[in-house]
Amino acid sequence: MDHPGGHLAVVLLVLVLVSMSTENNIIRWCTVSDAEEQKCLDLAGNATARNIRGQLLCVRGQSPTDCMKQIKNGTADASTMYADEIYTAGFCYGLDVAVGESYNGVDGINYYVVALARTSSSDLSMLEMHERSSCHPGMRTTVGWTVPIGFLVNTSQISVDEQCNFPHAVGDFFGYSCVPGVKDPEHDPKGNNPRNLCEACIGDENDRHICANNPRERHFGEAGALRCVAENLGDVAFVKHTTVFDNMEGKNQESWALDLELEDLKLLCPDGREANLFQHESCHLAVVPTNAVVVRLEDKCRVYKFLERVQNAFANATEGFSLFSSVNYGQPDVLFSDSTKKLLRVMGTYTSWLGPSYTTILKAFECEGLC
Ligand SMILES: *[C@@H]1O[C@H](CO)[C@@H](O)[C@H](O)[C@H]1NC(C)=O
Ligand SMILES: *[C@@H]1O[C@H](CO)[C@@H](O)[C@H](O)[C@H]1NC(C)=O
Ligand SMILES: *[C@@H]1O[C@H](CO)[C@@H](O)[C@H](O)[C@H]1NC(C)=O
Ligand SMILES: *[C@@H]1O[C@H](CO)[C@@H](O)[C@H](O)[C@H]1NC(C)=O
Repeated sequence: MDHPGGHLAVVLLVLVLVSMSTENNIIRWCTVSDAEEQKCLDLAGNATARNIRGQLLCVRGQSPTDCMKQIKNGTADASTMYADEIYTAGFCYGLDVAVGESYNGVDGINYYVVALARTSSSDLSMLEMHERSSCHPGMRTTVGWTVPIGFLVNTSQISVDEQCNFPHAVGDFFGYSCVPGVKDPEHDPKGNNPRNLCEACIGDENDRHICANNPRERHFGEAGALRCVAENLGDVAFVKHTTVFDNMEGKNQESWALDLELEDLKLLCPDGREANLFQHESCHLAVVPTNAVVVRLEDKCRVYKFLERVQNAFANATEGFSLFSSVNYGQPDVLFSDSTKKLLRVMGTYTSWLGPSYTTILKAFECEGLC
């Protein structure tokens, strides 16, 4: 009792430190759907039950963009986002990534975007696409729009005027194309997107739903874009490196797919050369990374450490809660992709996660006023 004031100060200091460390260990996860929120709550409950250090709280955001705002202003701390969103989060909101998904346990590659053509099409080069015909999985998709159009802008084949009107520039550039959804009000509010961007589309068996942004358009999606080239409507299709193999050997029972032969198709490389279908690692327009967990810069380490403890407990769980399974939630890829093997720590900035090819490509769209 010599220095009662001193004791009080120590007690207060301890209290402050304790409350700070608890505060520090709260991670508020921004979820954007009921399924995500439910899985987040299950993870939080199971983590607490296993005495995992740190506390997970689940908050709700209206959209990924809303989650970016919430993480920036501190009402949330973390959220899983896909490549284009990661770019927006970094570029517009100054956020970064803590960990990213790995499908092979080694790197954060999701897929390669490749340009596919018929072997018999000679005279075809990625550096001279003017007036050619093209098949795209869908309007504003990463594979079917962002990557190929960004590539054509970066190589100065397409230029957008001050209006920054990409559909017009693309319509002027290609002879005819199929870009499912390009005439939907959502992507064409003024109704004046070029008609030739639907001219390689075929609709359904009754010629309806031409250029629809769904599978009724038979050239929709990656399989549809492949079909569009296989059936000779387009010179080039922009697809994933896996698309051909996903539709071969009876995996797709439609007659056009059963007729496919590997020798009939080739890849067009960004340097103007060509390659066979197996050479996507050296012949692609972009490498698209897997999803990653977006955080504030100062939280990178803290969130990584928490997720490291979480994945050690739940990544390879054979019973009970399983971090990379979505079977209980009525849809695939809830919170994390189901094909994730582990979460990798991201030491560099968000652009290092996105990689040079994809970052360059996204820069082509800066005039659209991303933020
Ligand atoms: C753990 O997760 C399972 C789903 O895998 C869920 O049914 C259960 O309620 C969770 N446990 C706790 C304590 O939250
Ligand atoms: C944080 O951002 C969200 C989303 O924009 C907003 O709803 C909320 O009011 C903001 N909170 C604070 C404390 O600024
Ligand atoms: C889970 O198992 C896979 C396959 O054995 C392994 O590659 C991965 O590193 C494991 N994940 C964790 C977090 O231990
Ligand atoms: C973009 O263009 C520059 C110069 O033409 C080139 O060096 C770079 O590799 C291109 N990037 C991509 C992703 O194609």
